[in-house]
Formats: sequence, C-alpha cells, structure tokens
Amino acid sequence: MDLSGRVAMVTGGGRGLGRAYAQALAAAGAAVVVNDADADSAREVAEKISAAGGGPAVAEPGAVGPTEVAERLVDRAVTEYGRLDVVVTNAGILRDRMVWRMSDEEFDAVVDVHLRGTFTCVRAAVRRMREQASGGRVIAVGSPAGQRGNVGQTNYSAAKAAIVGMVRTWSMECARDDITVNAVIPVAATAMTATIPAFEPYVTAWRDHGTPLPEWLRAGEGFGTAEDAAGLVVFLASAQSDGVTGQAIGIGGDKLALWSHPTEVVAAYCDGGWSADAIAEGWPAFAAQAQAVGIPPPRVPPS
Ligand SMILES: NC(=O)c1ccc[n+]([C@@H]2O[C@H](COP(=O)([O-])OP(=O)(O)OC[C@H]3O[C@@H](n4cnc5c(N)ncnc54)[C@H](O)[C@@H]3O)[C@@H](O)[C@H]2O)c1
Repeated sequence: MDLSGRVAMVTGGGRGLGRAYAQALAAAGAAVVVNDADADSAREVAEKISAAGGGPAVAEPGAVGPTEVAERLVDRAVTEYGRLDVVVTNAGILRDRMVWRMSDEEFDAVVDVHLRGTFTCVRAAVRRMREQASGGRVIAVGSPAGQRGNVGQTNYSAAKAAIVGMVRTWSMECARDDITVNAVIPVAATAMTATIPAFEPYVTAWRDHGTPLPEWLRAGEGFGTAEDAAGLVVFLASAQSDGVTGQAIGIGGDKLALWSHPTEVVAAYCDGGWSADAIAEGWPAFAAQAQAVGIPPPRVPPS
C-alpha cells in the first residue's frame, strides 16, 4: 500500500493501538500528526517514526474532547504538511463501574474523550477535507462492548455504540464529497485489555518475554497485538478502499470481520395498532427471535 502524499492524524497515538496505527500509516508513506494526551509518548512516537525513515511525523499533544484541541490538530496537519486526508479517532480511556455506582464524573470523562473527542475531531477534519475537495478518509474506533454491551461499561459501551451510530450518519452525509467513513472494532493486547483475567497470563508472557500469543487467542478469540490491527487502518486510508463506507469492521489477531448494523429481525402488524393485551398475546412469536446481548465469554481451552 502506498500512502505517500497523504496526510493523516491519529488521536491517542502515543501507545497501544494508536501508536501501531501511526507507525503503520507512516511506514506506508503517509505524513502523520501524532496526538496524545500524554505529550512525552506522542513525541516519542513521532521521533521513532522519523528515525525509521517512513513518512514524516510530528507530535501535537493535547487531550481530545474540546473543539479547540480538534481544530489545533487539523491546523497542525495543514501548517506542517499542507493538507489532511485521513483522520483516525482512536484516543480512549476506561472508567468501569456498575451503573449503580458510576458517578457523573466517570460517565462524563469517558463520553468526553470517546464520543465528544470523535465528534469534534471528525467535524474539524471533514470541514478541512470538504475545503480541499479531494475526498478523504474518516476512521473512527468502536468496540465489541459498544456493539453488544458489557458489564461494568455503561459509559464506554454508550460512547462506543454512539460512535458507530455517528459513522452510519456521517457515511451518508459525506458521500457526495467522496469522504468515506468507517468504524474499526479492534481487539488487541494493550494496557486497556491486559487486565482481562482470562488473557492476562498470556499478555504478560508476550509483553515481558516475547512469548507468542497462543493459537486459541489469535485465531479463536481474534485477540492479537496492536500491530495486527494496523493493516485495516492502512487499507481504509488507502485508495484500495474506495467505496468502502458506513461499515463497522472487526480486526484482531488472525481475524477480520464485518459487523452487521442493527436491523428488525421480526415484525408483525395489528389492525388499528397494538394494545398491551395484543402484544402479550402476540409476544411468543417475537420471544423466539429475542436477541442475545454481551460479548461472548472467552473459550479458554482446557489446561
Ligand atoms: N485494546 C482493545 O482490545 C480495544 C478493543 C476495543 C476498542 N479499543 C479502542 O481502541 C482505542 C485504543 O485503545 P488501546 O487499547 O490502544 O488503549 P491504550 O490505553 O493502550 O491507549 C489509549 C491512548 O489514548 C490516550 N488518550 C487517553 N485520553 C486521551 C485524550 N483525551 N486525548 C488524547 N489521547 C488520549 C492515552 O494516553 C493512550 O496513549 C480506544 O478507543 C479503545 O477504546 C481497544
């Protein structure tokens, strides 16, 4: 894939998946603006990219969420490299808690970074892309927790589901400007997932000793390294993904997956409308199609 001449910005690019996306985009030839709330890690990644000799990179630290930060990132791409072609809204945090214990601050913190941060960065980027009138690529980041729900993640699953909701809407709004909009649904061993109990020993062995992640994780669970997820971002940033828009695409370990969008699974009609009694009577036909929720638990192999 050749992304030379293209300019990308990656939020939360200082570590984990964001770092892998920034490095892979640069390795394919794109110039990259590396953002992170942690200024040191953003600078370190930009320096590493420059040293590796791929596309050039600069760090533009800042906590995404507010409009001013989003506009600063886009401005930096334009002043540094003259344009912006690709935006990857990857920055994220967790503040897990059961709903009855979750504070307003925990809810707002997660929604601000993920949902508002995605909205403000994409809005600023799309404004610039429309001015350039040469298309563009929006790559947002969802999560299996947003697609299916996850215990302890009211704030996170709400924000991630909403991001995919925005992606559907934006793909329609941006189509005539030739700007594609997709969501990546990644699964990877990062600081964010290192504490999942079933995965922890394997992630620790991989991180501390380089022990490869086992087959049941890579192929079975679709759980691999951050670098495993980066190919999808490069593909979506490239000309090869022309016409791919409005999709939620899963990536992790050895697995690539296309997610469905919500759709009616059964519908029935009642002359004059449905009373509560009529619904109770008709419900068995719907109950047979009731939808499961939650991320399926890992199928840990017998030891
Ligand atoms: N790791 C997974 O399996 C997984 C699964 C689904 C979704 N995701 C999503 O992928 C993205 C990256 O996750 P990760 O696992 O690499 O996490 P991570 O914690 O390793 O990295 C997140 C990065 O975002 C930065 N960040 C946090 N708040 C920020 C802000 N306001 N502005 C700018 N930077 C900020 C952090 O400093 C950090 O460098 C997140 O959106 C996450 O929700 C990850």
